[in-house]
Amino acid sequence: MKRKLKVIPVHVGIIMDGNGRWATKRNLPRIAGHKEGLKAVRRVVKAADKYGVKYLTLYSFSTENWKRPKEEVEFLFKLMEDRLRKEGENLHKNNVKVRFTGRREELPKELKKIMEEVEKLTSKNTGLNLVFAINYGGRQEIIDAVKKIIKKGYTFQDVNEQLINKFLYLQIPEPDLIIRTAGEKRLSNFLLWQSAYSEFYFTDVLWPDFNEECFYKALLSYQRRKRKFGGLIE
Ligand code: IPE
Ligand code: IPE
Ligand code: MG
Repeated sequence: MKRKLKVIPVHVGIIMDGNGRWATKRNLPRIAGHKEGLKAVRRVVKAADKYGVKYLTLYSFSTENWKRPKEEVEFLFKLMEDRLRKEGENLHKNNVKVRFTGRREELPKELKKIMEEVEKLTSKNTGLNLVFAINYGGRQEIIDAVKKIIKKGYTFQDVNEQLINKFLYLQIPEPDLIIRTAGEKRLSNFLLWQSAYSEFYFTDVLWPDFNEECFYKALLSYQRRKRKFGGLIE
């Protein structure tokens, strides 16, 4: 296949959706879909690195996902913990810098611990910046930023875009491209502030079936976008 990508998005965000449907279609429990979804995570991390994407943010658990059955929520956290334990070293060897975004304090202790370990282990790496959004909500992120701003004693005159940016969970570039799998066309509280000028790519492919080819197609679609940011193109 031809690899004719000229413009590579610096930051790609992915709303990894459709694990449950993938499993249900096969008469499997939903958790089987989450397990299979992890394989897609591995494929996409590799692909992002290969195509020179600098930042990859993966929406892994939203602040609204607590509404799901307790068993599913617990399984998801266990799965993340287990994978991070197993893959941390491997990511480190591949020069990947891992970070997390979201309300960490509400997560299980063991998961938080391994998150901190992997973050620390990979903190000096200079390759792909991999961000897992866990217990993340865009509204919550803005609320948390506003709280910090007030606590620091900033005044009415101080408030502007730069100040809010400064108090978001992570100081990284905004997503150029946001991919959502499984046919749904909504943001579901993902990176609300940062997606103001993101390009969107939707595919019906269910997340566990997502592979390098699918990622490439999204990048190819991005090539054709005319980004204007409110201005005009020369
Ligand atoms: C995405 O798959 C994974 C998470 C939200 C954790 P879903 O679990 O939402 O799958 P569907 O949407 O039910 O198919
Ligand atoms: C969004 O998917 C959250 C993640 C992918 C982690 P959901 O499946 O939770 O979104 P809704 O409920 O369909 O909007
Ligand atoms: Mg879903």
